[in-house]
Amino acid sequence: MSNVVSMKRKQDFGDDPLAVRETSHYQKEYVESFVDKWDALIDWDRRAQSEGEFFIETLRQHGAKKVLDVATGTGFHSVMLAKAGFEVTSVDGSDEMLAKAFDNARGRGEMLRTIHSDWRWLNREVHDLYDAVICLGNSFTHLHNDNDRRKSLAEFYATLRHDGILILDQRNYDALLDHQVEPTHNYYYCGEDVRAFPEHIDESLARFCYEFNDGAQFHLNMFPLRKAYVTRLMKEVGFQNVTTFGDFQETFREKEPDFFIHVAEKTYDEKKDAAS
Ligand SMILES: C[S@@+](CC[C@H](N)C(=O)[O-])C[C@H]1O[C@@H](n2cnc3c(N)ncnc32)[C@H](O)[C@@H]1O
Repeated sequence: MSNVVSMKRKQDFGDDPLAVRETSHYQKEYVESFVDKWDALIDWDRRAQSEGEFFIETLRQHGAKKVLDVATGTGFHSVMLAKAGFEVTSVDGSDEMLAKAFDNARGRGEMLRTIHSDWRWLNREVHDLYDAVICLGNSFTHLHNDNDRRKSLAEFYATLRHDGILILDQRNYDALLDHQVEPTHNYYYCGEDVRAFPEHIDESLARFCYEFNDGAQFHLNMFPLRKAYVTRLMKEVGFQNVTTFGDFQETFREKEPDFFIHVAEKTYDEKKDAAS
């Protein structure tokens, strides 16, 4: 029997859900009932179609072969990249998520190499170097304070080879914080069976509701990352160049994309240094 059964069935936000702004709380948000429903309804094939070859092509353009997926979740990207021939290692801070990802991968003919670790102390568990680190599915948003975000980015940086890249995505929170989107706006890859909408937004909390066709509701309390802030942090921890895409496009109007995807490069550019 899979050890996924140990995952709690109910989310726990206490008496004052809007006060929940702690990094470690993600453990209590991804409960079994939510994860199972999400996984059953978000069709992997449809999701693969909506993402296209973006991640595979970006990794190949940078010559990446060995990839560390630090936000494995239920395994979508780990499996997709393993099938495309990359050597993938899958990390998550939730061992239940890793068990679920492992089962999902096995069902699709792949054996995942998994490492259970929180990003804040990733290098205690990960002792190898990678060509790329991926942190996808709006996962970085679970870090609720500046120190945790800097520490995690520094841990990602440290596990990359000298010319490695970090690919990290995030919701377009700027549009939300600056009230540039309609409240009815539906979000990226949700499809018809699940509706995701913001219930509360302020400069340090974005609480989203995920509502399923049968009326079941779940919530995630996330930190609303501004795009410029994430780019700045990446540069401050040592990444030399950051290119940001909007919904996989290189050119976009700021308020339009649902998601931004940052590609941060570690390579030291000597020409740029000489010019400055
Ligand atoms: C949105 S889900 C995964 C998304 C997955 N990449 C996808 O696109 O389907 C976010 C994942 O990040 C993990 N996570 C959140 N904060 C973490 C942390 N501080 N350290 C390690 N894992 C974390 C959660 O356990 C969860 O599995």
